[in-house]
Amino acid sequence: MNSFSPDDTAAHVSPAALRALIESRRAVRRFTAEPVPEAVIRDCLELATLAPNSCNLQPWSFQVIRDAELLARLHPVCMSQNAAKAPLIIAVLARPDTWRQACRDIITFWPEPEVPARVRDFYARTAPFQYNQGPLGLLGFFKRQLLRIVALRKPLMRKPNSRADMRIWAVKSTALAAQNLMLAFQSHGFATCPMEGFDEVRLRRVLDLPRAAIPIMLLAVGHQGDKDVYNPRLRFPLEQQVTWL
Ligand SMILES: Cc1cc2nc3c(=O)[nH]c(=O)nc-3n(C[C@H](O)[C@H](O)[C@H](O)COP(=O)(O)O)c2cc1C
Repeated sequence: MNSFSPDDTAAHVSPAALRALIESRRAVRRFTAEPVPEAVIRDCLELATLAPNSCNLQPWSFQVIRDAELLARLHPVCMSQNAAKAPLIIAVLARPDTWRQACRDIITFWPEPEVPARVRDFYARTAPFQYNQGPLGLLGFFKRQLLRIVALRKPLMRKPNSRADMRIWAVKSTALAAQNLMLAFQSHGFATCPMEGFDEVRLRRVLDLPRAAIPIMLLAVGHQGDKDVYNPRLRFPLEQQVTWL
């Protein structure tokens, strides 16, 4: 599926180019009706999935919505906001439920002829121990008690050890993918608006989302229209948000 090569890690983007790309992205609320080419969408989704993610288990999925009728049904679900009139909406879903299959997929898709023993071992034993919270999260409860005792002697990773932890676990990695996705569209000359202004119950129904999937945002994508950005850029002073230790 992907055309990634390990050599790509050597590529260098100048700080000025990266700054220009990041600075040029704004939350755009008005789009023209011009469709986004499929090749662009595919490229951006590939870049989204290059985001760093926990244990490489890639706990995300995406629904690409271009169908006019479905988009029209989504508009009221998104509180009829302007951004939701975009010609393309991508539902970015965190998937705390896919880790088991992902452990198998790592072995299946390993990019070398031989899967190293440490990799096999990690995805056969360590990862399942870490991520399996058992029915009703009961295993997670027992793991938390066990960890409290063992951690008296040495530092241990305490999370994820509940079903709530698993949701945060998946959302963290998926949010990074969402940011990659926005910047990728930006690099192709398309504007985006991340939206959490939607009725989740109705969204689940309209998109028939898997029960465990967490829609972290709907990403509106398209060409910028008129009066597209509502406000000037505003960020709080860095000193207010950063502690130097
Ligand atoms: C998780 C998330 C949810 C957001 N939801 C909405 C939304 O529903 N509607 C909207 O118009 N903008 C939404 N935004 C856009 C923010 O309002 C915007 O990013 C912020 O005001 C900063 O502006 P900038 O992105 O242009 O720098 C959302 C942004 C994020 C990250």
